[in-house]
Amino acid sequence: MNYCKSKNILIESYAPLTKGQKLKKKNNALNEMVKHYKDKTIAQLLLRWNVQRGNIVLAKSKNNDRISQNFDTLNWKINAADLEILNGFDANYHCTWNPTTQKVRANDW
Ligand SMILES: NC(=O)c1ccc[n+]([C@@H]2O[C@H](COP(=O)([O-])OP(=O)(O)OC[C@H]3O[C@@H](n4cnc5c(N)ncnc54)[C@H](OP(=O)(O)O)[C@@H]3O)[C@@H](O)[C@H]2O)c1
Repeated sequence: MNYCKSKNILIESYAPLTKGQKLKKKNNALNEMVKHYKDKTIAQLLLRWNVQRGNIVLAKSKNNDRISQNFDTLNWKINAADLEILNGFDANYHCTWNPTTQKVRANDW
């Protein structure tokens, strides 16, 4: 990320809601953290975290209420302490292929 920033390259968050997979957990730290934010959901917390990091966010939903909810990530802020915690949540979790280990063959390009 630092390299991209230094070159003015914008990063897009890929599957910012983990394709919905991590939203189903009931007793993890996100469930506790979201209580700090009135009327917000874990999905909004994840999207807002991306926005505050300066990432481009394209979340997908086929549900009207969730689409509205996902847009409600612009006019509020995650506090600095929670942001720090979220930044430390990297679990090396890949819900699709891993771009850092995927072999790319020249002929594919
Ligand atoms: N990941 C890829 O392979 C890939 C490839 C090419 C392009 N993209 C682009 O990336 C975008 C997003 O990727 P993605 O669909 O893979 O993953 P994603 O946005 O991380 O997750 C979408 C999933 O989250 C659920 N969801 C959305 N908003 C929610 C909310 N507020 N609360 C609870 N669940 C919610 C959706 O279910 P519902 O629809 O039922 O709400 C869907 O199951 C797409 O629009 C696509 O253009 C992705």
